[in-house]
Amino acid sequence: MIIDPFERRDDPWQDVERHVGRYGAPYFVPEVIDHAQGSYIYTESGRKILDFTSGQMSAILGHSNPDIVSAIHTASTRLDHLFSGMLSRPAINLATHIAQTLPEPLTKVIPLSTGSEVNEAALRMAKTVTGKFEVVSFSRSWHGVTEASGGATYSSARKLGVPGSPGQYAIPTPYEYRPDFVDSEGRLDWRRELDFGFDLIDAQSVGSLAACIIEPVLSGGGILVPPPGYLAALKEKCHERGMLLIIDEAQTALGRTGLWYGFEHDGVVPDILTLSKTLGAGLPLAALVTSERIEQEAFDRGFTFFTSHVNDPMVASVGCTVLNVIERDGLVGTSKAKGDYLHDKLEQLVETHGVVGDARGRGLLQGIEIVEDKQGKKRSERLADLITQRCFELGLHMNIVCLPGMGGVFRIAPPLTVSYDEIDEGMAILDQAISDIEGNL
Ligand SMILES: Cc1ncc(COP(=O)(O)O)c(C=O)c1O
Repeated sequence: MIIDPFERRDDPWQDVERHVGRYGAPYFVPEVIDHAQGSYIYTESGRKILDFTSGQMSAILGHSNPDIVSAIHTASTRLDHLFSGMLSRPAINLATHIAQTLPEPLTKVIPLSTGSEVNEAALRMAKTVTGKFEVVSFSRSWHGVTEASGGATYSSARKLGVPGSPGQYAIPTPYEYRPDFVDSEGRLDWRRELDFGFDLIDAQSVGSLAACIIEPVLSGGGILVPPPGYLAALKEKCHERGMLLIIDEAQTALGRTGLWYGFEHDGVVPDILTLSKTLGAGLPLAALVTSERIEQEAFDRGFTFFTSHVNDPMVASVGCTVLNVIERDGLVGTSKAKGDYLHDKLEQLVETHGVVGDARGRGLLQGIEIVEDKQGKKRSERLADLITQRCFELGLHMNIVCLPGMGGVFRIAPPLTVSYDEIDEGMAILDQAISDIEGNL
């Protein structure tokens, strides 16, 4: 039997029902997607939908970006894939280029494939180097679905009823809109919260703390931006205990937050940095970055992460091109400007709609929180669901955080190449969708 990949067989949903396995969340889109271009996706029925999640928060240069298409074409006809012990120019150049975008001492790079995988590698490296095994992360974290990355993920897929990795601990996530620890004026008292978190860690630890892994802005956790000073204080807590700080920039790297890297907002350099999603602009490419000292120590202690796609040349070519395009087109600066513009529009929604409680984010990673009423701040997952559906009908795809107890936050992350007109179009649709749903309350 020969089936063309894009062949339109009769009723796709019959094939889906019979042959497509499920992986944890319902298929959101009630239509099959035919193609994608720039900031839009197009359904088989011919509908054009603004993609304000950049695919899975990855396609930062828009879909089918001509530079990426050309890089894939060139590499696929010249050098696609190699034995993992071989090196190629694209792999060497990718490592060199990534290092050049980073501050000292982050100079050593291992290119891998996905976010879960690179966090798995980072945690393995931290355990190898420290000789310890306990790992700390935020209570609203998402770092992946593999053994160690899933173990450091508190927002999903923990209730499997089987033992996970030993030595996993959570600290409270700083959440300014809904603070758990407040000062005399009712504002988030993050220092007390952080101290409390580490008092609990110290009480539970068996004396084998290896690492703390965090995102500089929690995306899946609800677009939560740690307050100024928080990350520096967290790094101090880690180093006091001999732990390595791993910063997971799957969603925040490469201009997304208005600087090259999310950690730069806080002036905190991690011991290990992980990049994924945005590095391949939609293709599976990730990278672990660390210092020469840590890399040497890991090597000496026998660190191994030999995968089939480590240093793969074709995706490395894509990664090189992503970095070149960001630099050539000044996308870090425009992300900041467009992000500020988008944020102002979201603040207007907070002012004009009773159900929009908060707008927050950095650069082109923004979020709004849907509530039943502003006073009570009660989350409304039901309203957020209805608004999402209405947006889709009107031609806008946005993502609602679907963590238990966290639904109600929209994540808005258009490609860095989005135009101001497209932002206006998306915000007009969102405004109308919210009005339509409010009108039916
Ligand atoms: C911050 C963060 N880290 C890691 C991951 C896992 O990446 P992947 O899905 O590529 O395994 C994700 C995925 O959403 C993420 O948001």
